[in-house]
Amino acid sequence: MYNITVIPGDGIGPEVMDSAITILECLDIGFDFKFAWAGEECFRRMGTNLPSETIRLAKNSDAILFGAVSTVPNQRSAIVTLRKSLDLYANIRPIKSYPGIKNIYSDLDFVIIRENTEGLYSGIEEYSDTGATALRVITHKASKRICKKAFEYALQTGKKKVTAVHKANILKKTDGVFKDSFYHIAKDYPQIKSEDFYVDAMAMYLIIQPQDYEIIVTTNLFGDILSDEAAGLVGGLGLAPSANLGDKLGLFEPVHGSAPDIAGKGIANPSAMILSVIMMLEYLQENHAAENLEKALIKVLKSSKQLTPDLGGRGTTKSMTNEIKENLDF
Ligand code: NAI
Ligand code: MG
Repeated sequence: MYNITVIPGDGIGPEVMDSAITILECLDIGFDFKFAWAGEECFRRMGTNLPSETIRLAKNSDAILFGAVSTVPNQRSAIVTLRKSLDLYANIRPIKSYPGIKNIYSDLDFVIIRENTEGLYSGIEEYSDTGATALRVITHKASKRICKKAFEYALQTGKKKVTAVHKANILKKTDGVFKDSFYHIAKDYPQIKSEDFYVDAMAMYLIIQPQDYEIIVTTNLFGDILSDEAAGLVGGLGLAPSANLGDKLGLFEPVHGSAPDIAGKGIANPSAMILSVIMMLEYLQENHAAENLEKALIKVLKSSKQLTPDLGGRGTTKSMTNEIKENLDF
């Protein structure tokens, strides 16, 4: 029996989370779901967008599923705080082309690994007489562990190259630390090729030759931006999952936000959430279930009449989820 903390959040978060739970309940695996609050609605009810009870439940679970939250003015982001409180330092964002989907590239399969605890998201930001200042914190410790994670991930998944992305020509000290840490760790993995690029050049290479990359490792903000860009290459945010991993805990969430423009209409694409569930099943070493679910999703993406409008269909979150369910193999 796996103990799963479920944080649906706001907007389309609870809508896609419903799909995730519907699917997980069909699998022949025991899950004990404990629901927890975070986000805007939570702030309205409880005066905080991340109650300590949510953190406590999350810490004591085998894995966490997170929908999406809406930003609350003047409050620190609930998901950024959660990643930090649980020390989920590695944000793994696979970029994979699926058949049957209108995408820019149909042959991509790489991963962006984003440092999740520091950089420009350290939350150290203040107003000054002339405007405002944010502090970009880059430590040797966090840089080395994220780079190590990238090389270990390469070994686990049979990838042959890791590419570091930074801006060390301008951010000489902070990204100097990141780049040096990368090559320091790379020495322990002689069988894997290592290289590095400036982030501005990488933004272009991702558009003109994304097939060149296998694993990209980078700091927090660059990873946030490049992963949305890369998601656009394979069909958009509705198809982009992620895993936030620490040494002992994993939180799985779609890359997208609460999408207030479509919330309440029942038309959110559940794929990013379902793909995040697949990542969770792999993390729990339920590989058979993970493969079964990925196959069902691929079948639906290829040929279903129930695709959501963002994929060009006329389906709803529920009808697409039901099709995925019907395509599971038992
Ligand atoms: P967003 O990801 O919510 O939406 C961007 C665009 O993509 C919208 O047009 C939306 O309709 C579409 N979209 C996103 N997910 C979709 C899905 N599953 N199916 C179909 N279409 C989808 O980003 P936006 O609009 O910048 O932010 C909205 C709110 O979400 C903000 O309050 C933001 O701070 C928050 N946010 C939360 C995140 C999280 O909880 N991890 C991540 C990103 C944004
Ligand atoms: Mg983002």
